[in-house]
Amino acid sequence: MKTILITGANGQLGCCLQDIATQYSESFQFLFTDIEEMDISNIDTIYDFCSRHNVDVIINAAAYTQVDLAEKEVELAHLINSEGVSNIVEVCKRLSIFLVHISTDYIFDGTYNGAYTEEMIPNPISVYGKSKWEGEAKILESSIPSIIIRTSWLYSEYGKNFLKTILKLTKEKEEIQVVSDQTGTPTYAGDLAEVVMKCIEKRDQVLKPEIFHFSNSGVCNWYAFALLINQISGEKCKITPISEKDYPTNAKRPKNSLFSKEKLKKFLNIEIAPWEESVQKCLKK
Ligand SMILES: NC(=O)c1ccc[n+]([C@@H]2O[C@H](COP(=O)([O-])OP(=O)(O)OC[C@H]3O[C@@H](n4cnc5c(N)ncnc54)[C@H](OP(=O)(O)O)[C@@H]3O)[C@@H](O)[C@H]2O)c1
Repeated sequence: MKTILITGANGQLGCCLQDIATQYSESFQFLFTDIEEMDISNIDTIYDFCSRHNVDVIINAAAYTQVDLAEKEVELAHLINSEGVSNIVEVCKRLSIFLVHISTDYIFDGTYNGAYTEEMIPNPISVYGKSKWEGEAKILESSIPSIIIRTSWLYSEYGKNFLKTILKLTKEKEEIQVVSDQTGTPTYAGDLAEVVMKCIEKRDQVLKPEIFHFSNSGVCNWYAFALLINQISGEKCKITPISEKDYPTNAKRPKNSLFSKEKLKKFLNIEIAPWEESVQKCLKK
């Protein structure tokens, strides 16, 4: 029986991992922690916990994820998304632990016109994006056996996310406006949780840091995403497309977040569910 530590377990991905943990109970013991029990900015806490529990794998689902607030809370974003990851890497190195880390499309500037592959050079345009890229860099520099999964537009039945915001707004308002000139693909955190576990099952094939891109399949924009949510939930709200220029935010966002998922599909030998199907699955829950 191998032991998996999950950090940030009360977040979206962490909750979805908790939902599927029993499916893996014959092979893995899961230790779910969040900031109260394990603050990833404290290396001693991570080291003590991992050596006490003989941890074999860490899934780092902990992160500072408030993209706009990060423009003001620069130090905190770096403390969690960069220094926190550096601490985890150090512990993994010392105790020979396999790491699965989650990163983001926001490490790219979004100026590329096609689907981003894993080899393309990051160029973050926000504090959050920079902090996540620095976190990735700590792993890549370390050469530890590990997997970085970059994902985009994450939503679930848990926490705060676009899908839940749209559900609330379309119930309360007769009309809303949603940005239609940012392209990408939504990712259901339940699907991401399954991919994380499949990667862990294949970890013996990974001897150095490997990056994989994962989102659901297909392509859309925030407006199309909102339309589908409104349609499935049966609300009568009118949704109007607007340009990002008419919806100013503190942090800049990539215009294009589309990922190529070919590398992951080949590695895991899987097909990836279309984004529309997964939105339906999540809304049923
Ligand atoms: N959300 C998205 O749209 C999106 C898109 C692309 C990639 N990602 C990446 O996907 C991963 C999972 O995202 P998510 O949406 O599941 O995140 P989330 O819901 O914000 O969850 C993150 C969890 O980490 C906890 N945390 C914060 N600081 C911590 C610390 N110092 N030590 C331990 N735990 C800490 C948070 O606690 P508090 O809530 O108390 O702060 C929260 O429970 C992250 O790496 C994120 O960068 C997210």
